[in-house]
Amino acid sequence: MLPYKTVIKLDKKACTPLYIQLCNQVIQLIKCGVLAPSTKLPGTRWMADTLQVHRKTVIAAYDELMAQDWIEVRPAKGTFVNGSLPLVEQQPISGTGLAEKARQKAGFSFIQRKHLNSRDTEFPRKGILGLDDGVPDNRIAPIEEIARVYRNIVKKSYNRRHLSYGSIYGNMELREALADYLNDTRGLSTSPDNILITRGSQMGIYLSARLLLAQGENIVVGETNYRSANKVFIETGGRLNRVRVDENGMVTSDVEALCKKKKIRAVYVTSHHHHPTTVTLSAPRRMHLLELSQKYHFAIVEDDYDYDFHYCNAPILPLASGDSGGNVIYIGALCKIVAPAIRVGYLVAPKDFVDEAARLRRVIDRQGDQILELTLARMIRDGEIQRHSKKALKIYHARRDLFCTLLRERLGKYFEFRKPEGGMAIWVTLREGYDWEEIKAEAKKNKLKLGGYCGDEDDTIDQPYPGLRMGFASLTPDEIKEAVNRLETTMKFLEQKVESYV
Ligand SMILES: Cc1ncc(COP(=O)(O)O)c(C=O)c1O
Repeated sequence: MLPYKTVIKLDKKACTPLYIQLCNQVIQLIKCGVLAPSTKLPGTRWMADTLQVHRKTVIAAYDELMAQDWIEVRPAKGTFVNGSLPLVEQQPISGTGLAEKARQKAGFSFIQRKHLNSRDTEFPRKGILGLDDGVPDNRIAPIEEIARVYRNIVKKSYNRRHLSYGSIYGNMELREALADYLNDTRGLSTSPDNILITRGSQMGIYLSARLLLAQGENIVVGETNYRSANKVFIETGGRLNRVRVDENGMVTSDVEALCKKKKIRAVYVTSHHHHPTTVTLSAPRRMHLLELSQKYHFAIVEDDYDYDFHYCNAPILPLASGDSGGNVIYIGALCKIVAPAIRVGYLVAPKDFVDEAARLRRVIDRQGDQILELTLARMIRDGEIQRHSKKALKIYHARRDLFCTLLRERLGKYFEFRKPEGGMAIWVTLREGYDWEEIKAEAKKNKLKLGGYCGDEDDTIDQPYPGLRMGFASLTPDEIKEAVNRLETTMKFLEQKVESYV
C-alpha cells in the first residue's frame, strides 16, 4: 500500500480546509499515475488514524472526490480510484520536484523569439541608486488627485456603466479631452474620431507596426534608436533600414536616398528628443521628412514620448501638426507625465487607420481601463494634468541642470555629453580607454546601477557602443549628488587600473 502518511501532507494552519487539501492531494496522486485506476483506497477510519484527522474530514474528502468522478464506491468491496480513468505513466511523487519541473519547462513546443530578449524590470534594491533610462519621478506623481477623482467617479452609481464593456476606441470623454488638449498644446488639428486610446506609447507603436509592415517590408529607423521600437518592428516582420542621426536628429537625406532605392513603408522617429541621443529633429528636416512622406507615400510613426519636458524654449510642434497629407501616426502617452504605471496613451491618425488599429487592438486587449481613462479625462478638463506637468517640468529642469553641472565638473575628464534641451536623460559618451560594461560592473560594486540604454545587439553602429543614457528626472538633488559621487569613485578606480597596466 502507498505510504499515505509520507505522501500526504496536510497543513492544519492553512486557509484551505483539510478535506479540500486531502481531496486535492489524492487527485494529484491519481494524475501523476501513483494511484492507478481501480486502485483500492484505504477505509476512512484507517485514513483518518493515519493522517491524524477527524474521520469526518476523510469522509468529506472522499465525497468530494466521488462528486468529481475521481473515485467510485464498489458495493461490498470498498472505495476505488475510478476504473475508467486513463492510465498515466507513473512519475515520481516527490511532488515539489515534479511541480518545479513543470513550472519551469513547458511540456510542449512554442515559438521563441530571439529578438524579444529584454530582461524584466527590477527595482533597485535598498541602498542602490539607479541612473535609469530617463523615467519620471514616481514620488511626485499626482496619485492622491488621481485617487480622489477616481473615487468621485465610482461613487456615482450612474458611472457604474463604465464597469461594463465599452468602446474599443477608449473612453469617449478622454478622446474628446485629448483632442482639445493636443490641438491646444501641440498645434494638432484633430478630432476624437482620430484618437485611439492605448495602454501607453508602446502599444501605439505595436499597433502601427502591425498595420504597416508585412513580412520583409522596410521601415526606416535611426542608427541609434529606441530599442523596444526596433524589437516591435522586427517582431512584426519589418526590415530595419538604419539612417544616420546627428545633432539635428535623423538625417533625412539618408531617408530620401533609401526611398529612391526601395519601397519604404514607414519611418519611425522620436522627433522631439531622439532616443537615445536626446537631439531634436530640426525644422528643415521636419519639413523634408513630411515632404518625403507625401512623395513616397510612407507613414511617419512619430513617437512623441516626452513632448512635455522641454527646458530651453517652447516645445517644438510635432510633425503631426504640419501633416497635410494624412501621413503621420502620432503616438504619445500620459505615462511619462503622470507615472509609467498609469498605462494610458493615445494614437492619433487618419480615421481609417484608427478604425483598423482599434479592431486590431480589440483582439489582444478588449478595451482599456475605462474608469482610469475617465479619471484622466476629468483631470485634463480641470487642468490638473497640465498643472502637474508644469510642476514636473520645473523640478526636472533643476535636476537636469544640477546633474549636468556635476557631471561636467567631476567627470568631464571621462565623459562627453551635451546638455539635453529636453527629456529626462543625458546621452553620455566615453572619452577613451573605458568600456561601458566595465564601468557598469564597477559601479555596481559602488551601489550604483547604470540601467540606461547602452546599445543593442542588433545595432549597426560599431561596438563598443558610444553612449549610455543617464536619467536624472527620477532622482532628488541629494540622490543626484550621491550618484555622481559613486560614479566618480567608479571612474577613479578604473583610471588607476588603466594606469597600472601602462
Ligand atoms: C522612445 C520611447 N517610446 C516609447 C516608450 C514607451 O512608453 P510608454 O510607457 O508610454 O509605453 C518609451 C519608454 O521609455 C520610450 O523611451
